Amino acid sequence: MKQAWLGLIGLLERHIRLLAHVGALLPLALLVFDALLGNLTVNPIQDATLRTGKAALVLLILSLACTPVSKWLGFRAALKVRRALGLYAFLYASIHFFIFAVLDYGLNLEYLARALLEKRFALAGLAAGLLLLALAVTSFKYWQRRLGKNWKRLHRLAYLAGLLAVVHYAWLVKSDLREPLAWGAGLAVLLAARLVKRRLLY
Ligand code: HEM
Repeated sequence: MKQAWLGLIGLLERHIRLLAHVGALLPLALLVFDALLGNLTVNPIQDATLRTGKAALVLLILSLACTPVSKWLGFRAALKVRRALGLYAFLYASIHFFIFAVLDYGLNLEYLARALLEKRFALAGLAAGLLLLALAVTSFKYWQRRLGKNWKRLHRLAYLAGLLAVVHYAWLVKSDLREPLAWGAGLAVLLAARLVKRRLLY
């Protein structure tokens, strides 16, 4: 049993990059596939918005899970895919925003500005999206070197982006809060795991 378990972990370690790329691109492939076959719901724009929003949130939480998984469970290979998962979260958030702004609002800037600034759920989404943009732009080695210690500080804002995304989700569902609350709880566990480890080490 232990042998099989170790074998599985070894396999995961060796193929973690491939697994992350395939897993992250799967929702996009399914979305394109379903759109081409006319398999989206009666409201295809809403369906595509919901799918891309969910993918962005899940990938952001997965990228935040990489450090605790490496430090607490000793699965160091997770660190190899942390940045890619964060960038995929940004990719889905961008597609999510594109669908909202271009397909839903026809890029009508007046309606768009009103929708973004008057609906609190959209404001929270916008703030999360802008943070993801800043993190994606500065995720490259060049910025890591330029910003030095501040790079780490800046990238801790990924937790704030996660919180804003959860708030965005909670504000738009109105009645059944179970799912956004579950993601919020997951995020809280990840943050606690990081803080506790920090205290023990330093
Ligand atoms: C300007 C930025 C954003 C806008 C305007 C926006 C807008 C929307 C809209 C219109 C919906 C669907 C509402 C409905 O029809 O029920 C939605 C759902 C959602 N969005 Fe966003 N969003 C933004 C940014 C983000 C970001 C950055 C994330 C995650 C990182 C995100 C995650 C979600 C999630 C998880 C859902 C719900 C999915 C579900 O119910 O399955 N959104 N968003």
